[in-house]
Amino acid sequence: MLDIVVLAAGKGTRMKSSLPKVLHPVAGKAMLGHVLDCARSLNDGLNAVNRDTRLNVVIGHGSELVEERFQAEDVSFVYQNEQLGTGHAVQQALPNLRSGAVVLILYGDVPLIQSDTLGKLVAAVTEESMGLLTVELSDPTGYGRIIRDEQGRVTAIVEQKDANKEQLEIKEGNTGVMAVLADDLLRWLPELSNDNAQNEYYLTDIIAMAQQEGKHIVAEHPASENEVLGVNNRQQQAALERHFQKQCAEQLMTDGVTLIDPERFDCRGQLTVGHDVTIDINCIFEGDVSLGNNVEVGANCQLINCSIADGTVIKPNSIIEGAIIGEVCDIGPFARVRPGTVLARGAKLGNFVETKKANIGEGSKVNHLTYIGDSDIGKGVNVGAGTITCNYDGVNKFKTTIGDNAFIGSNSSLVAPVNIGEGATIGAGSTISSHVGDHELGVARGKQRNIQGWKRPTKQS
Ligand code: UD1
Ligand code: CA
Repeated sequence: MLDIVVLAAGKGTRMKSSLPKVLHPVAGKAMLGHVLDCARSLNDGLNAVNRDTRLNVVIGHGSELVEERFQAEDVSFVYQNEQLGTGHAVQQALPNLRSGAVVLILYGDVPLIQSDTLGKLVAAVTEESMGLLTVELSDPTGYGRIIRDEQGRVTAIVEQKDANKEQLEIKEGNTGVMAVLADDLLRWLPELSNDNAQNEYYLTDIIAMAQQEGKHIVAEHPASENEVLGVNNRQQQAALERHFQKQCAEQLMTDGVTLIDPERFDCRGQLTVGHDVTIDINCIFEGDVSLGNNVEVGANCQLINCSIADGTVIKPNSIIEGAIIGEVCDIGPFARVRPGTVLARGAKLGNFVETKKANIGEGSKVNHLTYIGDSDIGKGVNVGAGTITCNYDGVNKFKTTIGDNAFIGSNSSLVAPVNIGEGATIGAGSTISSHVGDHELGVARGKQRNIQGWKRPTKQS
């Protein structure tokens, strides 16, 4: 049994925000979301005996918002109405802890913690021992210091504000993350006192209690310092964002992706890639995005929940959301591809083209300044510049269908519901409001008159 307790009651005063700190995002996901997902992946990696994991989240400031966002079957919320210290916070969760369980304590504002590290910590807990995650810091200011005896055994933690000069020299800091038996916590936590520099109930005081009972305190370390960095202000949030993105970029390059500049790359979700993908600068990937083999993404593109098949080129400044793009398509520059767009092989969407709920057939071209919405377009269709599907009458949406090999002249308005037949042609500048049959020419525009001898008006004096 594993009972995880995530501390998330703090206000986060230095964020200067009306949003509770743990709801602030790193890589597009609330910090608490990172912690809970890590905890869940830890459970998946445990052996069957330990796999019975429960998540407890201690909340206080902005508790309704946190609760609303993270409501889930495997999460219990515990309220800490007054923030009297980390020990007091864990105390609030005591009624939820199961006798015989290992308790893992995490922090909602330390989002990059990794499940491998937590696995080591949990494995360190026995009847005779507990696990403590510590880290060697070049500047340990603000951290509790790890006190060791002559044999190098951990004996206590002293908080920065309670430390003497000698203790302040210690570089080994407490990350706050620890794993301990529930039954030990039940015994120790009621014994905590707030007789210290901050008048708080320090969770860290249980280390000395453990040592006095003859328990062995196993100090484990994170693979990287970034894992245990907390967020107290916007600067730290931005720094963690960069760490995260850098890691993500490194992994992609390891997987064979060309990133023109890994410093100017942002992934806020799950990006899956084929081989020989190239991504130019300032692209943002959100939600689930997959890029097939040989896909090229130009500068300044935003791709959200979409899949791009092999050989497709996305030119700069395009936004693609909720779309399925086929092989060897050509999109942009400056295209806006909205949800429900499906492009078949070899289709083209050019500059200043917007699509929404549109099926566009193989090899069809929509090259310039066009809006295609609620439409089914066949194969080999050419949609001229400035074409608009008028899909909305102010109340309802209607559908436009265009058959294979149709040719839509420039600056046409197709007033839905309307069908344009196979091989049909629409004269440029037409407003088409009734169906056009296969291979017919539809023209609907004012006839041209040329007036000879026409004189321009002159200014009257
Ligand atoms: C704590 C540790 C310190 C460690 C540091 C690492 C204690 C006494 N000190 O100090 O040894 O080096 O973290 O960052 O544990 N929280 C609550 N309720 C409370 C108090 C805190 O939920 O009553 C939550 C906060 O929201 C935060 C976390 O616990 O997520 C840590 O609290 P914080 O006040 O930042 O502790 P530190 O003083 O930084
Ligand atoms: Ca802190």
